[in-house]
Order: sequence, then structure tokens, then C-alpha cells
Amino acid sequence: MSKTETLAKAGAGQAAAAPGSKLEVRDSRTGKTYEIPIIEGGAIRAPDLKQIKAGDDDFGLMAYDPAFLNTASCRSAITFIDGDQGILRYRGYPIEELAEKSNFLEVAWLLRHGELPTQAQYDQWVNDITFHTYVHENIKRFLEGFRYDAHPMSMLCSGVAALSSFYPEAKSIHDEAQRNISIIRLIAKVPTIAAFCYRHVKGLPYIYPDNDLSYPENFLSMIARMSEGKYEANPTYARAIDILFILHADHEQNCSTNAVRAVGSSHVDPFSAVAAGIAALYGPLHGGANEQVLRMIEEIGHPKNVPAFIESVKGGKGGRLMGFGHRVYKSYDPRAKIVKKLAYDVFQVAGMDKDLEIALELERIALSDDYFTSRKLYPNVDFYTGLIYRAMKFPTDYFTVLFAIPRVAGWLAQWEEMLLDKEQKIARPRQIYTGYDERHYQAKATEKKKKVRKAPGM
Ligand code: CMC
Repeated sequence: MSKTETLAKAGAGQAAAAPGSKLEVRDSRTGKTYEIPIIEGGAIRAPDLKQIKAGDDDFGLMAYDPAFLNTASCRSAITFIDGDQGILRYRGYPIEELAEKSNFLEVAWLLRHGELPTQAQYDQWVNDITFHTYVHENIKRFLEGFRYDAHPMSMLCSGVAALSSFYPEAKSIHDEAQRNISIIRLIAKVPTIAAFCYRHVKGLPYIYPDNDLSYPENFLSMIARMSEGKYEANPTYARAIDILFILHADHEQNCSTNAVRAVGSSHVDPFSAVAAGIAALYGPLHGGANEQVLRMIEEIGHPKNVPAFIESVKGGKGGRLMGFGHRVYKSYDPRAKIVKKLAYDVFQVAGMDKDLEIALELERIALSDDYFTSRKLYPNVDFYTGLIYRAMKFPTDYFTVLFAIPRVAGWLAQWEEMLLDKEQKIARPRQIYTGYDERHYQAKATEKKKKVRKAPGM
């Protein structure tokens, strides 16, 4: 299939527009009619609305869309989602095929370059990533300064932001060679920093990377190695981590990717832009949801308590059913299907998780309840990942870190696409001002406010 055919098909979820298609708009304020071109992807350009004015001094019509419910902020060729049909593809390849046949580093290359690597490209890429896994010793000392109970996402975010100060040359974002090395450094070093965060919270010595190991095996070694001379990862765990990394590598314009693109649009270095993505991912409505799923399941405690819990969610008292619902997927999240199967593979090695029964009961009841089905709320990727991570003995507050590590690959592909897109500028939304009209300053706090407070003993 040609690229154009593929693109035409990929846009199936979005209405096609024949060349010359227009939207005719009549402004009831003035009686004037306007023709607005409908562009590829079935969109109009919001700046085209600006010509629609109620009078000469009018700024022009704006599109109001808090939370970007129906606003495309970019053109992207990286990830395609059809939320109604539960389809997810990276660069045209179905996620199911990539999860079965590929590995994370190959997928990371694919996301950035648009094609699968040749053998020579793949070998060089793996070699480059492996070569850059070590971090400056000062990063280690910096992480040691965190409290024993610091949240690992907070540590990861700070650690990645700090990397920016170690590589000032990364500011040359228009230099392709600098972008290359920054991308390699980030994909190589984030697992190292993430593992250091884990060891810090556990009070264990940090383990340096073992460059004889594959990407997932090296990560597990930095997490779990104790006194053994050579760490050997359980192959089921190593493959599970690799598959989970593939599933989490990108997800088009979500909250954190939008954060990376928006922050990156100021032309800051990629370490700072990725740190912004990590901060966005930390939130419980985004990557933080996998942590919340486990906390919710622990709170439910027993399958017999599930019906009451579901009722409390429906009544608005029990909060949301975490791990359910998605802004885009209005059917089963295709990643959730793969993760559910993977969970059983991991449980075969780790033993059946006691909370799986609660999760299955939650899923069963929710999927047969009108509240959830009428709102098209299905399990999302976070519903089962937490159970896998827990079976592998990762602490609950570490789950989002396991989401962040692979998402770095997607953020960087999106960041570079944004930089090379001639239509992009610094992200700067408009607002509808709802505050006071002009008024004049009259102090309400008078004398006290003006007194300078003196420090004791001065
Ligand atoms: N439990 C109960 N009700 C829900 C849920 C839920 N998980 N999600 C949405 N609803 C209801 C919501 O109350 C609303 O009902 P009504 O129309 O009566 O007011 C309706 O469904 C639509 O919800 P919304 O908040 O307008 O939907 P959204 O697209 O803004 O939110 C979401 C998407 C993912 C933030 C939301 O579904 C949610 O909070 N889910 C739980 C958190 C979660 O699992 N997040 C992980 C998302 S997947 C990984 C990722 O991308 O980070």
C-alpha cells in the first residue's frame, strides 16, 4: 500500500475532505455569509474564523475549547488512534503486531524515524543507547539528597530536568547532531535515573548499568541486583517489561505529550521539555492512574465489596472507577487486551495476584452496568498494568515511573516532529477574559501593609 493510500485509510476516523470543500457560515449578528476551507483530516483552521466580525473594532471570532475536546493542535504522522474501533498504530503498524514481534528499542527508532531500522541501523542504535546509559556521578549525589520517602516521580522529574544542566549543548535544538545525541542520552539515561530512584526509596545501594544486557534486562538488573556477580533477569519478566514499554511508548496528543510539545515550542532543550512531560504524566488522571487503580483495589479489599463500590462510584461518592474510561477510546483500549493476557503470563511465574479476583469482578460488573456502557467507559491500559507491576514486586508509587521510561521515546519523536513542522510556533492559546473592566487603584490595606517587618533581633 502506498504512503498516500495508507494515510487516506489511516484517517478513517476523521472525515475526508475533497479538495475545495468549504464550510458555509452565516453570522446572525451581521447577516454576512463566509466560506471557510475544510482541510485534510476534516478540520477548519481556527484562524480562518478571525475574519468573522460583528463590527470593525471586533477582534474576530475565536474557537473556545477548554481541554482541547475538539481541537487538533498539530499534524502528526506518528501514532494513529481510532477510539471507536479500538485501533492503535505506530507509524501504521498495529500495536498488537509490534507487541508480539518487535522490541522497545526497535519501536523507539520506528517512532522517531517513521520506518523500521535496517539491521545496520538497529545495531548502531542499540550500541549508542547502551554506550550512554551511565549518568554523571553528580546526578547520583543529587538524587541522594531526596528524603527517604520521596515520590519516585518527583525524583525522576527533577533528575531529568537536572540533566539539562549537564548538557548545555542540547540547547542547539536546530542542530540535527545535537538532537540525535540528546535523544540517545535521554532514552539511555532515563532508566538509570529511574532505577536509582527505586534504590534510593528502598535504601539500597545504586546499581550501575550493565552494558552486556538488553535494555529491559539492564533495567531489571539496576532494580533488583544484590550481591550476585552477574544479574540474570527472569525471561518472562524481561519480555513483560519490553512489551509494556512498547505499549506505553506513544499515544499521540495526550496531556503529557501536549506538555512536551507546548514547552518544547519555546525552544527550550529536550531535557527540560521531557521533564515537563514527566510532571504532566504524574497526575492521577493520566499516568498516575495505574497507581490509583491499585490503591482503589486495596481499598475495596474483597470481591464481595465490589457491587457496593460500583454503586458509590455511580452515586458520585466513591470517586471514579480508576483504570476505566478514556478521552479517545470509546471501546476497549487495545493495549488493555494485550496487558490482560500478559498479566496471566506474569502470574504464572509470580503466582496469582490475590487482587486479580477483585479486578475481574470490577471489570465484569462495570461492563454490564448501564452507567458505564452508556458512557462508553471501558478498561484502559492502566487497569491491569498495576497488577503486573505489583506481581513483579514494584512498589505502588513506582508504577507511573514504569510508564514514563518508555514514553520518553514517544515524547521525543513528537518533540522533533513539532520542531521540524514549519507551521508550528510557540504554543500560546487565547482566552475569553471574564474579569473586571478597568478600575483604579485604591489601597484597602493602608498603614500595616506599608510597615516593613523586621527580623527578630534587628
Ligand atoms: N468512573 C466513573 N465515571 C466516569 C469515569 C470513571 N473512570 N470516567 C468518566 N466518567 C464519567 C464522568 O463522570 C462523565 O459522566 P457525566 O457525563 O454523567 O458527567 C462521563 O463519564 C464523561 O467523563 P469525562 O470526565 O467528561 O471524560 P474525559 O474524556 O474528560 O475523561 C478520563 C477521561 C480518562 C480522565 C476519565 O475517564 C477518568 O478520569 N478515568 C479514570 C482515570 C484513568 O483511568 N485515567 C487513565 C487514562 S488512560 C492512560 C492515560 O492516557 O494516561
